[in-house]
Amino acid sequence: MRVLIAAALLIAASGPALAADGRLLAQACLGCHGPDNAGASSTPGIAGRPAAELVAQMNAFRANERPGTIMGRIARGYSDAEIAAVAAHLATEARR
Ligand code: HEC
Repeated sequence: MRVLIAAALLIAASGPALAADGRLLAQACLGCHGPDNAGASSTPGIAGRPAAELVAQMNAFRANERPGTIMGRIARGYSDAEIAAVAAHLATEARR
């Protein structure tokens, strides 16, 4: 029983952190945005941009206010908290 309670507490404690781990979320952008999210061929770099700018772009894609080939669909898969977390992380990465 004690083990079960400990496990439940562990899951409860790690849940929110997992839900908005910006570093982890940014791994999903690498494939298109290039190594270190610094940009690749026709895909713009997103590393090292101000977090507020990245959040604004993601919200615009999500709301269909900004046209895009793929980002509209991608942005809709992220919650406000996740967008804030990934933007905060990307802002700390080096811009090239
Ligand atoms: C399947 C490829 C793909 C993935 C995965 C992807 N992007 Fe994009 N992203 C693009 C493309 C292509 C554009 C250019 C706009 C368009 O065509 O949709 C773009 C544009 C952007 C822009 C606007 C940049 C600018 O200078 O205007 C932001 C911000 C952005 N992406 C954030 C992200 C974030 C954050 C992730 C990861 C959570 C991500 N993208 C994952 C392909 C991708």
